[in-house]
Amino acid sequence: MSFDDAILALSNNALKFVKDDYVIGLGSGRAATVFVKSLGKLIKLKGYNIKGIPTSLQIKLVAEKVGIPLIEADQVDHIDVVFDGADQINSQKFVIKGGGGALLRENILFNLAKKVVVMADKTKFVKNFTRTVPVEVHPSARNLVINSIKKLGGTAQLRSLDRGYTFFTENGNIILDCNFGTIKNPKVLTQKIKQTTGVLESGIFLRKPDVIYRAKTGGKFDIL
Ligand code: A5P
Repeated sequence: MSFDDAILALSNNALKFVKDDYVIGLGSGRAATVFVKSLGKLIKLKGYNIKGIPTSLQIKLVAEKVGIPLIEADQVDHIDVVFDGADQINSQKFVIKGGGGALLRENILFNLAKKVVVMADKTKFVKNFTRTVPVEVHPSARNLVINSIKKLGGTAQLRSLDRGYTFFTENGNIILDCNFGTIKNPKVLTQKIKQTTGVLESGIFLRKPDVIYRAKTGGKFDIL
């Protein structure tokens, strides 16, 4: 029994937040993938009239495969519930996202959502954030943002692919993975990061999840 078993078990549990005729935000990554597969089965079983909004091509492909009808975020003025993973969750229940580079669309969906459900394994839960913060930046603002991250006490690393090529988001932007050491005040830091022109999104989301699932070992999970 591994975290994967727990993610599957909690995904099935999280289906209780899904109702017929809902518009559902589909996050990206491993946990979101497990959830989307479970959602596809539920839709078939119940014949629900659900519309999904994907946050990346990665999850769009999974959703297409399991038969979830899709629309885009700009076709709605709200989303009933978003299901997504996270890279780190602090004790104030802020989340860091963007490990896969989908942070801009993910944060748009978080802010359109009436309810946000986050699913993560227990290794991602910390008192204060310690991991790097992904920041999506317009390519021409690279040095501008690197300098402002330095002024905030951090260091910025341009995200690249395995063979050294630059990683570009689906929006045509770059990602700076920014190290601030231990982050004690994520809200203030995020507000400051977002003040620099050319920053499209910060991986620290100020819209907190309403429900957080924590996957444990032995296929178990709890809800915070
Ligand atoms: C995508 O950009 C991310 O925000 C993911 O949602 C996050 O990295 C969690 O992914 P896993 O569920 O794969 O750990």
